[in-house]
Amino acid sequence: MIDALSLLHGLPFLVGVGYLTYLFLWRCFLSQLTKLPGPKLAALTYWYECYYGTLYPPMSRQNQDLSEYADIVQPAQYAFKIKRLHSEYGPVVRIGPNDVSISDLDFIDTIYAPGPGHRRDKNAKHSRSLGISSSIGGSITHELHRNRREALNPFFSPQRIHRLDPDLASKAAQVENIFADARESGQVLNLSDIYFAFCNDVVHKYCFGSDPNLLGNLHLASARRNNVFSVLGSVKIMFHFNWIRKLLQRLPGGGTGAHGMMIFRRRIRAQIDEVLARDPFSDEEPSIFTHLRDSTELPAAEKSAKRLEDEAVLMTMAGTYSPMLSLMVAHYHLLSRSDIMAKLRTELGGARGPVMPRTAAELERLPYLSAIAQEAHRLTFGLTGRNTRVCPDEPILYNDKERGQTYTFPPGTSLSVSTLVIHTDESLFPDPWTFDPDRWVPSTSASDATDMRRRRSMLSFMRGPRVCIGRHLANAEIAVLLAVMARWDMELFKTDQDDVEFKHDYHVMCPKLGSKGVRVEVKDRWNA
Ligand code: HEM
Ligand SMILES: *[C@@H]1O[C@H](CO)[C@@H](O)[C@H](O)[C@H]1NC(C)=O
Repeated sequence: MIDALSLLHGLPFLVGVGYLTYLFLWRCFLSQLTKLPGPKLAALTYWYECYYGTLYPPMSRQNQDLSEYADIVQPAQYAFKIKRLHSEYGPVVRIGPNDVSISDLDFIDTIYAPGPGHRRDKNAKHSRSLGISSSIGGSITHELHRNRREALNPFFSPQRIHRLDPDLASKAAQVENIFADARESGQVLNLSDIYFAFCNDVVHKYCFGSDPNLLGNLHLASARRNNVFSVLGSVKIMFHFNWIRKLLQRLPGGGTGAHGMMIFRRRIRAQIDEVLARDPFSDEEPSIFTHLRDSTELPAAEKSAKRLEDEAVLMTMAGTYSPMLSLMVAHYHLLSRSDIMAKLRTELGGARGPVMPRTAAELERLPYLSAIAQEAHRLTFGLTGRNTRVCPDEPILYNDKERGQTYTFPPGTSLSVSTLVIHTDESLFPDPWTFDPDRWVPSTSASDATDMRRRRSMLSFMRGPRVCIGRHLANAEIAVLLAVMARWDMELFKTDQDDVEFKHDYHVMCPKLGSKGVRVEVKDRWNA
């Protein structure tokens, strides 16, 4: 009797041990992935990634100056570790129990853009850390994603983006007024906050039809930018410890990242509620969210306030933070490299005149200006986390020509290509950490084939059916602002390379912890 009872008590323990043993045997000996190169520990447990991926300063101290931690711990380093693993193990590395990283340019399309008839899902584990699972970017299955994408596509074609020219022009004029005021007052400007506000205003108006004018309140812009950073800064913790996210969502006030997210969401939700409260088809100029509200294709479930809230949170975050990063990288290098600025000014033909001499599309056709944009995208690295794809229904084969090996990734394997690895490939980008727009100017020396390879290697916006939907908008914003940048003489203020270089992976690149952004003193309006 006693024995039976203690056996019963021991049962959960035995089941636990049994499960762990099974997991161990599967991950190390039975899974088809065991044949792949890579560190044994990474194959065995997610703690390996967790170790390189988090090591984050204690949550309660996130608000303090993070730079004091920088020497003690180096958080969010898995992207860099993966790059080192590739130089050690070759083009295929098993970087997790079910995760494979591939560093081969010719294999990118197989993973991300396999063509009609092939399905690519997202990895649910990777998609949940931002907590916007009913947004387009959070859609796991291929089919669900396609439906949501079709509903949004009409708003993001190049033609449609051209109609934003007047909005871009008036926001650019506002930026120039800020520069002009700072020249008079001598006030130090934070370009990162300014570009954050610019992109926020543009995407917000496109989403909801009204201009929140964050550019008019740079203190608020600075607070909001910090806020988004604290959300991003918590993604690694949320990824590895999903229960923390769930817990924090329940607590009033939660941790800083979760709290920031809550405030942000509340603001977005108010906009969605306002759009839903208006009569359908009542708006003169449709915005993204009146368009979704009035869509006859989307089923009712896809138009719930909760889902539209997720969609709007993604749209505002993605539409603000990423282009802001490319803009600050570009402007930093224009200010630190007078030769690049001089070439840009020459190309713009000494444009003085009115505030907006050309449309975004015309500016984008200027080879050197667009080369600067492209180089800024390269060194901003798009999404720095693992953009994983899972093929649900067919094994994928990879042929390692150098080693004469063929590897099989069974259905369900989580596959990814690292933007860091590709964008710093020295065979394509010699001296990869140097900002050099000439890489993108159609060359006379390098062969067309090399040019083509270089262009195909750009993963900033990814590719295939889930390519960044906002890329034309982002490029229009950048073109317009590059022309603005060329019109001003500025000096960097307490800002160096560490403020714009990829140091930590928080899903997007993060420079030195504690960086305040790119700061400048405005000297003069440039007159050729
Ligand atoms: C330089 C600026 C930008 C960069 C580097 C960038 C990068 C990316 C990347 C890499 C993806 C693919 C993500 C994935 O694989 O899941 C993506 C998706 C997305 N981006 Fe961007 N983006 C930028 C600007 C924008 C802008 C301005 C908007 C908004 C208007 C935007 C909205 C989105 C949305 C909604 C998705 C999800 C698309 C989908 O899942 O089909 N992005 N972006
Ligand atoms: C940008 O710089 C200004 C001026 O130095 C500073 O007050 C502000 O806090 C900075 N913004 C962020 C988000 O660090």
